[in-house]
Amino acid sequence: MYTGLKHFHSTVAYLVLLLVLIAVLHAILSLRQKRPFTAMSKKFTLYGLIAAHLQLLFGLVLYFVSPVGFGNLSGETMGNSLPRLHAVEHPLMMIIGIVLITMGYAKAKRATADAAKFKAIAWYYGIGLALILSRIPWQVWP
Ligand code: HEM
Ligand code: HEM
Repeated sequence: MYTGLKHFHSTVAYLVLLLVLIAVLHAILSLRQKRPFTAMSKKFTLYGLIAAHLQLLFGLVLYFVSPVGFGNLSGETMGNSLPRLHAVEHPLMMIIGIVLITMGYAKAKRATADAAKFKAIAWYYGIGLALILSRIPWQVWP
């Protein structure tokens, strides 16, 4: 179960990065070119959210199954950068990033003006993505 979950998490990571990036770029370009919020814009926004939520759910399970997750929390772990990244910084920062993406989705859904929808996506998804990129274990991935 652990190996399967880890592979799944590692694969869905590409999907999250790609789909959230597409949503951000689409929002920024649409804002600059004053384009309307179309059915396609809605899809880009939704696919980014779904990928992030899928990763959140299975990431949480992985955290309690992985030998480098919750089970590895200790004073010694806190003193070493990669173990601390896996057990503390990565999970925390990914949750914050996904919360921001979810807030952006909700704000875009509630906004009435097209520009306001794109702005919510550009900022919330954009900052969420930057936080996610800051705490990927790049030493061991891809
Ligand atoms: C730990 C697990 C999860 C949590 C805490 C969570 C939380 C949330 C929250 C708070 C929203 C509301 C956003 C809003 O205000 O519109 C939301 C929406 C959504 N979530 Fe999740 N989610 C989780 C897992 C999933 C999974 C596994 C999927 C599917 C693969 C998913 C798909 C969606 C979709 C499609 C919406 C948008 C619904 C809409 O159009 O309003 N979520 N989720
Ligand atoms: C935006 C969402 C996320 C992305 C893009 C992401 C990405 C990644 C990547 C690329 C790895 C390295 C995989 C490998 O070494 O093959 C990883 C590992 C890990 N992630 Fe995430 N992650 C996300 C969310 C989460 C969340 C929400 C949690 C838990 C709360 C979590 C817990 C873990 C754990 C425990 C590992 C270490 C697994 C191991 O090596 O045993 N991740 N993540």
